[in-house]
Amino acid sequence: MKQYQKEINKRRTFGIISHPDAGKTTLTEKLLLFGGAIQEAGAVKSNKIKKGATSDFMEIERQRGISVATSVLAFEYRDIKINILDTPGHKDFAEDTFRTLTAVDSVIVVIDVAKGVEEQTEKLVEVCRMRNIPMIVFINKLDREGKDAFELLDEIEQKLNLTVTPLSFPIGMGYDFKGIYNIWEKNVNLFTGDPRKDIEETVEISDLNSEELDDLIGEKAADTLREELELAQGVYPEFDREAYLEGRLQPVFFGSALNNFGVRELLDCFISIAPPPRPKESDTRVVKPDEKEFTGFVFKIHANMDPKHRDRLAFIKIVSGKFERNKNYLHVRNNKNMKFSSPNAFFAEKKEVVDVSYPGDIVGLHDTGNFKIGDTLTEGENLMYKGIPSFSPEHFRYINNADPMKSKQLEKGVDQLMDEGVAQLFVLELNGRKIIGTVGALQFEVIQYRLEHEYGAKCTYENLNVHKATWVEPEDPKSEEFQDFKRVKAKFLAKDKSGQLVFLADSQFSLQMTQQKYPSIKFHFTSEF
Ligand code: G4P
Repeated sequence: MKQYQKEINKRRTFGIISHPDAGKTTLTEKLLLFGGAIQEAGAVKSNKIKKGATSDFMEIERQRGISVATSVLAFEYRDIKINILDTPGHKDFAEDTFRTLTAVDSVIVVIDVAKGVEEQTEKLVEVCRMRNIPMIVFINKLDREGKDAFELLDEIEQKLNLTVTPLSFPIGMGYDFKGIYNIWEKNVNLFTGDPRKDIEETVEISDLNSEELDDLIGEKAADTLREELELAQGVYPEFDREAYLEGRLQPVFFGSALNNFGVRELLDCFISIAPPPRPKESDTRVVKPDEKEFTGFVFKIHANMDPKHRDRLAFIKIVSGKFERNKNYLHVRNNKNMKFSSPNAFFAEKKEVVDVSYPGDIVGLHDTGNFKIGDTLTEGENLMYKGIPSFSPEHFRYINNADPMKSKQLEKGVDQLMDEGVAQLFVLELNGRKIIGTVGALQFEVIQYRLEHEYGAKCTYENLNVHKATWVEPEDPKSEEFQDFKRVKAKFLAKDKSGQLVFLADSQFSLQMTQQKYPSIKFHFTSEF
């Protein structure tokens, strides 16, 4: 096999998604420990917004510092190069997570054994399901009392609309937690509650009926396990890798991240079944990772970590070919050639300048304002990657300039923050007033704070009654119906940043009435249609 193909095949780029507090940070940290990427627990900083912090948006600033370091955590394990992409759990930053999900090849979903499927898990899994992203489920905190395994598996199937098959099974739980039976490898791992215990210490059980199992976990627990496994076998489909890769079947593991228990089982299975970099759809064709020519896209921008320098880091996922330092690439949207003298690659907690990167890898490019989210780089081919839609925001406010001397700064700041994907800007057709739309209310504070501290501009907000922003697509832009719509609804029409027409409905009712009155016009809830 050619070296290049080997490099592609050894990469696994994935994200861990969960509702806050389910154990994403803890699991990430344990995975890094296996890779030898970090030496001690506590080394990975949580990216979540801690409750009771001085102020929410100050906390966000602190988090921004951390999240540069945790954006990509890369390590090697058993000759596989693993790239974990960070996904914020806080719901106000859900859009960030959605965008990151366009750059992963698979995900691990963490669920709290006691809380079961929570709100944020539902939303994120839905996005993965829509994109057929392969998912593995990890049910965490088995050292605590929680729901019964079958009940949880049912809940996952129903609430998340998945088809599951357990690849490990818990023996007891909480106070009675004895360990897990690894269905995938056919062995038993006993729980001692000591996270430093030799992690390879498992007992092979090739025959579940052997007395060895009774000796190991006691007769009663052994009988229960036998019954439960038999039941599971009858109820759940057998694991099928094709079905998993196509997003039709989701294997489930049980464990306790905090106790580093059940994590090795998860990781070993992950590296053998999770997909290497996958082909990606562009506006002209599907691009395969093993194509010779480089292509990649920006899925995240980090700006102004040091307010004294206008530094921005654009994160590119490499889809095909090799990305090389100092080589000329085409920035497709700007139709401009660019080369990069110091592309960063990410390792567990540091970044380094690299000469060559491969499909599946993420490189960080220093940027002076050329990139926005969704931009594509190629070796000359005119193609753009799809799949980074804007969602209709939940909150809307007018943004006003509070310092007339600083209007340039305000404009630039707003422009750059929008490129970064912090929020969306809409400009009213009628009078040119600017409206900021966000997914969470926290973003307004973030924008105000960052405009002041990074751009020296001051803004105020004014409330505005908008229920939803919908992207407008007329069947025929010249039709009488569309002209009438534009006349009647002129007050509610705006352009988004890319110039697309948007209808700002002030209520669910008025949206419905409008849809009924103008049947030849489509109203979309995301910008990608
Ligand atoms: P998140 O990134 O998904 O938000 O969750 P995180 O890993 O921060 O874990 C949330 C809380 O759950 C933490 O406790 C963590 O220690 C705990 N936790 C994670 N895995 C397990 C597990 O397997 N068993 C048990 N019992 N607890 C677990 P915390 O008190 O909020 O934080 P900390 O002060 O312990 O860091």
